[in-house]
Amino acid sequence: MGMKIGIFDSGLGGLSVLNEALSKLSEHEFLYYADVKNVPYGQKSRDEILKFSFDAVKFLIKNGAEAVVIACNTATSVAIKELRANLSVPIIGMEPAVKKALTHDAEHRVLVTATPITVHGEKLKRLISSCDPNGLVDLLALPRLVEFAERQEFVSSAVEAYLRDAFAPYRFADYSAIVLGCTHFNYFKDTMRQLLPQNVRLVDGNEGTVEELARRTGLRTQ
Ligand code: DGL
Repeated sequence: MGMKIGIFDSGLGGLSVLNEALSKLSEHEFLYYADVKNVPYGQKSRDEILKFSFDAVKFLIKNGAEAVVIACNTATSVAIKELRANLSVPIIGMEPAVKKALTHDAEHRVLVTATPITVHGEKLKRLISSCDPNGLVDLLALPRLVEFAERQEFVSSAVEAYLRDAFAPYRFADYSAIVLGCTHFNYFKDTMRQLLPQNVRLVDGNEGTVEELARRTGLRTQ
């Protein structure tokens, strides 16, 4: 018998985590919770995000989830500590894959993109100070990508213009990677790829999150 695993995001972004989980843990059952009523979280208050996260995770547990993945960097940033302290199932969070990017290349700069809440949160500051002794990481909030994703506008001239503008201040010859620190940003890899030089890799946290899920639950990945 497989395990029942809950996956929660504010909206469509966490589907990329679900996709990774389905390919690595296909014999298990997944419940996906998208808080479409309250998305975007990235521009809400921390108190609101805390409440939404508790409601979502409790709903998943009530419906049989034996472990829950917070497939949302923003909700993880705000709520993971409180969720773990108050709920009894394993709760797996998601953080921007800064370590992964710096492990691959510790000499060039890394641009971490995320929502404003994640970018300004203490959790990301702590993560960066633990793994970036040389000050190679820059931060960029891209809140409009969440809005584009929720209206399923994944490729358009407006998306391209927004990203072109946001990337304009950076000299990408100095960068090895852009970290996609919001699950919604996965939908824009094609447009980013077109705008960026080849030396810049796009790094997401999906694989690492599913590995962590397997580790915390003792499940074997395929
Ligand atoms: N998908 C979420 C994340 O990974 C946030 C999107 C939102 O602003 O709701 O951060």
